[in-house]
Amino acid sequence: MSVKHVGVALLGLGVVGGGTYEILRDKREMILKNDDVDVEIKAVLDRNEARIAELGIDKSIVARDIDEIVNNPDIQIVAEFFGGVEPARNFLLKALYAGKSIVTANKEMFSKCWQELEQAAEAGGGGLYFEASCVGGVPVIRALTDSMQANRITSLKGIVNGTTNYILTRMSDEGVDYASCLKEAQRLGYAEANPSADVDGFDSAYKNSILSSLAYRRRVPVDKIIREGISDISVKDIAYGKELGYTIKLLAISGQRDGRIEARVHPAFLPNSHPLAFVKGSFNALFLSGDSVDDVMFYGRGAGALPTGSAIVSDIVFCARNEEHRRYPFENIKDVDENAFLNDFSTMYYVRFDVKTGDGTLSKIAGVLSKNKISIKSVLQKADDELVLITHEVRESVMRKALCEAEQLDGVDKVAALIRVEE
Ligand code: HSE
Repeated sequence: MSVKHVGVALLGLGVVGGGTYEILRDKREMILKNDDVDVEIKAVLDRNEARIAELGIDKSIVARDIDEIVNNPDIQIVAEFFGGVEPARNFLLKALYAGKSIVTANKEMFSKCWQELEQAAEAGGGGLYFEASCVGGVPVIRALTDSMQANRITSLKGIVNGTTNYILTRMSDEGVDYASCLKEAQRLGYAEANPSADVDGFDSAYKNSILSSLAYRRRVPVDKIIREGISDISVKDIAYGKELGYTIKLLAISGQRDGRIEARVHPAFLPNSHPLAFVKGSFNALFLSGDSVDDVMFYGRGAGALPTGSAIVSDIVFCARNEEHRRYPFENIKDVDENAFLNDFSTMYYVRFDVKTGDGTLSKIAGVLSKNKISIKSVLQKADDELVLITHEVRESVMRKALCEAEQLDGVDKVAALIRVEE
C-alpha cells in the first residue's frame, strides 16, 4: 500500500477533541507504520486559549474561523467535537460542500441532520463518518454497516449512555444517591454539557435513532422514539428489584415486526443473568439479533476522552484509506410514513403500590389486573403500606388502563413506581 497523507482539522478541544488530539499526536508514527496513513493535524478551532496551552498546541495551527479551515486545500477531513446542533451543523455543511469529509461524535446533530449532511456530502464528494457517535470506542457502526449483510436484523437492545449506566450502577451496587453519582459522572467527563441530555434519555434516543436506522435500513427519526429518563428511579426500587432477581438499566430498544418499527428508550429491569445486566459503570453494550447470526453483543467504554477518541481516529484512518465514500440512500427519504412506527408495545412490569394496608388489598389489585387479562408473576411485600408486583407481558396501553382502575380501589393510595421489565 502506498502511504496516504491526510490533513485534519479538529473543531473543539473539549474532552473528546482533546483526547483525539493526544492520540493523533502520540500515535502518528504507529498509525503510519501499521496503516500507511500519515495523519497531520493542520488546524484546530477553539477559542479557549488555556486549553490550547494545556494541550501544548502550536499557535500556528489555531484557526481564526471555520472559513480558514474550509478554504485550506491541505485539509481533507474535518473532525467535529462541539456537540449540539449549532454551530456544528452549519460548519460541517460548509466543509462538506467544500468537498471535505467529516468525522463526528455528535449524535444529536447527526441524528437530526443526517439527511442534509448526506446531500451535502453527495454534492461535495466527501464522506460522513460517525463511528464515535454511538457506544464510544466500540465499533458498532462499522459492525452494522460492514458485518451484518447476511441478516435481517430483528431487534436491538443496548446500554448506549455511559453517564446513566455509571449512575445506575453506583446507585445499585453502593446505594449512593442519584445527585452525587451525577456530579461524579460530570467530573469524570462522561456527561453532556447539559446532563439532562443523559438523564432524561435524549442522548440514548439520538443513538437509538442512528443505530436503528442502520439496523433496519430505513430512517427511524428521533421523534418516533418513545423516551423516558432515569430521574424517577429510586434506590428503594433498585433494591426491591434486586431482591426479585433484576438489575436496573437505561435501555435503548428497537424491533421490527410485520414491517413496522418499535423504538424506545426507558429504564428497565433485566434479569440478573442477562448479558446486559453485567455491563457496569461507563461501559456500554449493544445486543443485536439477526436472522442469520442469531444474537451478538458488542461491549466497551461508551464515553470518555480516549475511548471516544479511539473511534474518531479509526474513522479518520478509514476515511483516508477509502477511495469511495459510503452513501446511505435510505436516509434521503424526506417524509417518513407515520404508519411505519408502533407506539404501543408489550413488556413485563414492576409496579410498586402505596397501600393503606396490605391485607385484602393484594387480592383486590389482582382482581383488577385479572379483569384486564394481566397475570402476576411475583409479589414482594416489605412493609404494611406497600406492595410490589411483577406482571407477565402485557401491552403498555392495557397496563396503564388497569393501573388507573387499581388506583380507584379502597386500600390503594397510588401507583408509586412503574418500571418495565425486559426478559
Ligand atoms: N454523555 C455521553 C454518555 C457521552 O454518557 O454516554 C458519550 O456519547
